[in-house]
Amino acid sequence: MSATARKTAPLPDDIRAMKGGTPIVSLTAYTTPMAQMMDAQCDFVLVGDSVGMVLHGLPSTLGVTMDMMEMHGKAVARGLTSAMMVIDMPFGSYEEGREQAFRNAARLMAETGAGAVKLEGGVAMADTIAFLVARGIPVMAHIGLTPQSINTLGGYKVQGRGDAGAALMADARAVAQAGAFAVVLEKVPETLANDITHAIDIPTIGIGASAGCDGQILVVDDMLGLFTAIKAKFVKRYAELGELRAMTRAWHRAGEPIGVVPTMGAHHDGHLSLVARAKDMSDRVIVTIFVNPKQFNTPEDLENYPRTEHEDARKLGRFAV
Ligand code: KIV
Repeated sequence: MSATARKTAPLPDDIRAMKGGTPIVSLTAYTTPMAQMMDAQCDFVLVGDSVGMVLHGLPSTLGVTMDMMEMHGKAVARGLTSAMMVIDMPFGSYEEGREQAFRNAARLMAETGAGAVKLEGGVAMADTIAFLVARGIPVMAHIGLTPQSINTLGGYKVQGRGDAGAALMADARAVAQAGAFAVVLEKVPETLANDITHAIDIPTIGIGASAGCDGQILVVDDMLGLFTAIKAKFVKRYAELGELRAMTRAWHRAGEPIGVVPTMGAHHDGHLSLVARAKDMSDRVIVTIFVNPKQFNTPEDLENYPRTEHEDARKLGRFAV
């Protein structure tokens, strides 16, 4: 079932059952408003420990704490109704042993209402994953580029090239065997990602790991151009909101009135007359296009809504907005 057609959140087993079927859609979120925007679009939303770099300005994910994950998990939970929430176990909260992992995973699930936890590691974590799953904690694994191991991996590089591919395949088999319901493959060469996807019976969720995976995940702030400290080549930017933010700050400082015309695209004369009016009233005008799922009664209406960004941009050209 597509994310937009669903009224209640899927369970980990539902995500597992999507193996080889409709591609699984997921994004990260760290706050209630972002979760609300992602909810209808996603099968699951990940409260990623990337929050440390994206929102807290940390140089890596290593400084993220259980308290931070709990706080952001609670915030995201308030914004979700139809997507499952998965929450990252932060660095140092599970590697010491399976009892430590259980204690911290149970805390995150009990305090935030997450449907599952995610942890990094393959063969080395298989025993811990099996322990958690046997005690009622669904686990999503994460292999390939595992950012919590950045100091031993030597940078945010592609993993599994050449001979290292066999070790990554062993990691994937180990986490599937241990009972993980899905596995994130980060920065893995396309052929290896495809081979792993065919070799294991749980869904692979790719991030920089080819369209051949069973699903995809992106860090939402990367996708919207809000996080610019690291620019991963594989991320398709759907907006440059960071640049827009810098631009509007400069206009504010210069005392230039800004008009905003929010639209859902498919511009017609009605939209254009609003833009003309805004131009009369302000020095700067921003026209936004966001096809808001909450405006539609049925998933079919949302799917069939015309998306004409290039034509819209052409029509707006004469207003210099
Ligand atoms: O923390 C995170 O956002 C993640 C994704 C990159 C998968 O783990």
